[in-house]
Amino acid sequence: MAKVSIIGAGQTGATTAHFLATREIADVVLVDIVEGMPQGKGLDLAEAMPVIGSDTEIVGTNDFGPTAGSEVVVVTAGLPRKPGMSRDDLLEANTRIVKTSIESALEHSPDAIFIMLTNPLDAMSYVAMKVGDLPRERVIGQAGILDSARMRAFVAMELGVSVQNIHCYVLGGHGDDMVPLTRHSNVAGVPLTRALSVESLDAIVERTRKGGGEIVGLLKTGSAFYAPAAALAQMVEAILKDRNLIVPASVYLQGEYGQEGIFFGVPAQLGRKGLVKVIEYDLNNEEQAALKASADHVRETIEALKL
Ligand code: NAI
Ligand code: 2OP
Repeated sequence: MAKVSIIGAGQTGATTAHFLATREIADVVLVDIVEGMPQGKGLDLAEAMPVIGSDTEIVGTNDFGPTAGSEVVVVTAGLPRKPGMSRDDLLEANTRIVKTSIESALEHSPDAIFIMLTNPLDAMSYVAMKVGDLPRERVIGQAGILDSARMRAFVAMELGVSVQNIHCYVLGGHGDDMVPLTRHSNVAGVPLTRALSVESLDAIVERTRKGGGEIVGLLKTGSAFYAPAAALAQMVEAILKDRNLIVPASVYLQGEYGQEGIFFGVPAQLGRKGLVKVIEYDLNNEEQAALKASADHVRETIEALKL
């Protein structure tokens, strides 16, 4: 089975390992700086496999040796938000953590594809690409699957329709100015703009934008992890199975959507080599303006980086 290493065995890292192992997507190496914790979680997960019936191997470690030869490296190492903090408040501390994570992972897995989660997500994906001197195909940030899944969940709750019928596309930076594309989102082919009243749709858009904060406010000690981990597992699977799956994800733009030199949430096709291509939607003036405002914010965060 392919090997996937997860750097950061906290809430999102361990839950991603759980999804990958139970669905037999890959063998997993969990890495963390806390002594004993990744080993304990790895062993506990390994002991769950006989009950689940999965032959996945899971190990935990404090050093990068066992990560050697990973095909995909998922980076969740870093601090999460506490109530009252924005994702950008994490910039300095997480830049240092992401930098050492990428350098150490590359020493042992020079050909790996990196999936980033650490916040602020778009900036941390940029750090990974620059520090690792990696081609853009090999660094992909997770945000859009999560943000779109939140919107899908809210639409399903409102309409009482299966989540499988609901397709939502949230693009832009992973901040509260993200851009839920209501015109392109639909319920079994019916645009959301027709399926929902203006008031309901506006409320869902607002709740989606603040979806991360809503969970932080409830948990109080950290941020969301089940939905982010499910999103990471979907990306890992798309890459390892060469699915050519199109998902909203943060990738380095080279002119697409009128943007250059930033990581930004766009529809991205994922396959065995990582990013296959960026899909460009036709956008109206209002959608373009919303994406530009979000891109300006991401650019400011990237410019504030001290690499
Ligand atoms: P957590 O605190 O539960 O886990 C983070 C882990 O990273 C901790 O166990 C910590 O010991 C470890 N760590 C710190 N420095 C490390 C290093 N140098 N090497 C290896 N491990 C190290 O946090 P959680 O909830 O897992 O979130 C992780 C990050 O992901 C946060 O920055 C959070 O904001 C972000 N996040 C991003 C999402 C997205 O959609 N992009 C969604 C959810 C979380
Ligand atoms: C979220 O949106 C914390 O960025 C993370 O839940």
